[in-house]
Amino acid sequence: MLKVAAHDILSFLASGDWVSGEEIARKLSISRAAVCKQVKILRQRGYEISSSSGKGYRLARKVDLLDADRIRGSLNTRWLGRDLQIIGQVSSTNAAAISSISSLPNGAVILAETQTEGRGRLSRPWASPPGGIWMSLVLKPIMPLNHVYRINMAVSVALCRALSDLFGLDAGIKWPNDLLIGQMKICGILMEVGAQVDRLDYVVVGLGLNANNDTSRFPAEWRSTSIAMELGHDIDRCDLICRILQEIEEAYENMGGIEIYEEWRRHSLTLNRQVLISSASGELIGEAVDLAEDGALVIQIGDERKRVLAGDCIHLRDATAAAVVEGR
Ligand code: BTN
Repeated sequence: MLKVAAHDILSFLASGDWVSGEEIARKLSISRAAVCKQVKILRQRGYEISSSSGKGYRLARKVDLLDADRIRGSLNTRWLGRDLQIIGQVSSTNAAAISSISSLPNGAVILAETQTEGRGRLSRPWASPPGGIWMSLVLKPIMPLNHVYRINMAVSVALCRALSDLFGLDAGIKWPNDLLIGQMKICGILMEVGAQVDRLDYVVVGLGLNANNDTSRFPAEWRSTSIAMELGHDIDRCDLICRILQEIEEAYENMGGIEIYEEWRRHSLTLNRQVLISSASGELIGEAVDLAEDGALVIQIGDERKRVLAGDCIHLRDATAAAVVEGR
């Protein structure tokens, strides 16, 4: 008997129609009990699957499964995503990329339908249910370590361009690299770097983009939205992934230029806001008065200006109400 993965069952159910357990079992040459076991696994991953003794199984909502052949067929990049892996479920695509970094070429991309231990910035967990885009890019640039901020700028700008061109969504950037629609977070970026004292070995750029997943079940304080929630309908994730990779490749190739910096600055939602910055050296509250070309946020605190290169940023509503937090 063949060994079948939960993902194989999912492709039968993707259309959202009822499919009998018997039919799935026959087509995959497995037992009905094996189908039942894999359906249970899919439910644990977050897929809502109804079952009926007369009709079989049905997904509560149609899913567009990530399809490597479709992505490869439409991708116009020269090097980004040319090595592409799609995994049904993984702990974290960033962790998967880092664990096999020496064998992955520059431009390799790993995508997963769901993650069990998705990693966010500052060691926060990242919820990764079905329908999102959970993707890691492997980059092996020849550049000094202190130029990594340029990758951050290029990727953030590329994502804004893709969301605007494909869907007319006007995403802004909350420093350092969250994408928001209004006040709601639609995408987070986690860059993990491997380096020697004087040079970069690799950068793994993890993108968590809420696409067709419903974020209304996420804790309210995360203030999350998704593309489907903004548009009122699901989108084609494979098309979007192609577009994102194309935009990132183009922005990455121009990342040293002033245009990327200026566009990154123009998209900023943090500039001219009262902010609370937490970093290894403590907390700062002040007005974000500038974004420097090296990615630093410049904060005015009384008569003093401070440059912050990394940290967690919270937008505050106004100067006096420092405790009134608008977004995490
Ligand atoms: C953030 O905290 O805003 C960054 C979230 C980054 C999540 C993505 S999902 C794909 C990749 N794999 C991970 O484990 N994390 C990143």
